[in-house]
Amino acid sequence: MDHFLYRDGALFAEDVPISEIAAAVGTPFYVYSTATLLRHFRLFDEALEGTDHLVCFAMKAASNQAILKTLAQAGAGMDVVSQGEYLRARAAGVPGERIVFSGVGKTAEEIRIALTGGIRQFNVESEPEMEVINAVAQELGVVAPITIRVNPDVDAKTHAKIATGKSENKFGIPIARAREVYARAAALKGLDVVGIDVHIGSQLTDLEPFRLAYQKVAELTGTLREDGHNIRRLDLGGGLGIPYTRSNEAPPLPVEYGRMVKETLGHLGCEIEIEPGRLIAGNAGQLVSRVIYLKSGEGRDFLILDAAMNDLIRPAMYEAHHDIVPVQEPAAGTESQPYDIVGPVCETGDTFAKQRDLPPLAAGDLVSFRSAGAYGAVMASEYNSRPLIPEVLVHGDQFAVIRARPAFDEMINRDTIPEWL
Ligand code: LLP
Repeated sequence: MDHFLYRDGALFAEDVPISEIAAAVGTPFYVYSTATLLRHFRLFDEALEGTDHLVCFAMKAASNQAILKTLAQAGAGMDVVSQGEYLRARAAGVPGERIVFSGVGKTAEEIRIALTGGIRQFNVESEPEMEVINAVAQELGVVAPITIRVNPDVDAKTHAKIATGKSENKFGIPIARAREVYARAAALKGLDVVGIDVHIGSQLTDLEPFRLAYQKVAELTGTLREDGHNIRRLDLGGGLGIPYTRSNEAPPLPVEYGRMVKETLGHLGCEIEIEPGRLIAGNAGQLVSRVIYLKSGEGRDFLILDAAMNDLIRPAMYEAHHDIVPVQEPAAGTESQPYDIVGPVCETGDTFAKQRDLPPLAAGDLVSFRSAGAYGAVMASEYNSRPLIPEVLVHGDQFAVIRARPAFDEMINRDTIPEWL
């Protein structure tokens, strides 16, 4: 459920008409709903009620500080994967003890920044990384809390580009080698081994792969405890999928996920962390764009929008489907017609949808891409020298620009010309 609904024939974000935002900030832009962000965070928080837990928002999904602050004030922690994300979370007021640091390529510098600034734990992805964390911690005279990410070799049954839990993926250490690696970690004086980490992929629409992975984690917890490790925290990653189309079979709900977590791991008495990104932000954000031209091709009509693949890369990169809806609600009984919906970038891949049925649209009309709040703005680029587009946050009947559209000069003046030219 989200808070983008038609009211009196027009699409609203909470209590603000989308057309009013478009008039104020121009198109295209991303718009987020505070109520939806909070609703989704609370669904997870409540799903884990009764267990000691922390919901760490995977901020790679949406990293604007206004979004982070909204979630942090509700009690969320953050899952970060780079120095930039760490510093952004801190700038948004998230305390270090609520930040977990994931990612396969943490540099010594990133580790130093996090250890100095405060960190809940590093989710270690490899033995060489473990050695570096140990060395940096010892150099700073501190002990680094770590979990080790195990790769459970389960098939997440999601898009190949976002599956991470198979043995052929680059993530984590093979679960079969866990005892050996934990023994090595325990011998390093700069590390405090607090638990186990697992993340098997994104946009999972079935609980079974999670269940299989968590059963393996439960078993491993027992084995490692027998080996003398004080396993007290389990980081279960993110990955629960969202409905991208309203006709789709709905993925499991957070409450069902939470029940399964308690069933598979509840008896261990561990603190539980989860790292959802998409489910919190995905349906809390939309991309609003204006039709520049309606172009009639041979046997097909193209809607050429002012948004392009550089603003929302998911359709080009993952063949992802986003529902596209008119901002002006069509009158009842209006017949739809098929359109190819494209952006202005000079690539055939700059296609958002082919032969998508929409009510008749004309140049100047506004459309909104649903489910664009996660992996939307954060994956945008300036390809074709198109400046990054603004982000807007709605809260009840108020809205605020939380990232302004840069002036063309700001983008152009970042280049520097060497003196020999
Ligand atoms: N934790 C770790 C270690 C991750 O790698 C990810 C996502 C998450 C948590 C959050 O997963 P979520 O709850 O959002 O599924 N750009 C792709 C998605 C890439 C996901 C990468 N890792 C997309 O647009 O579909």
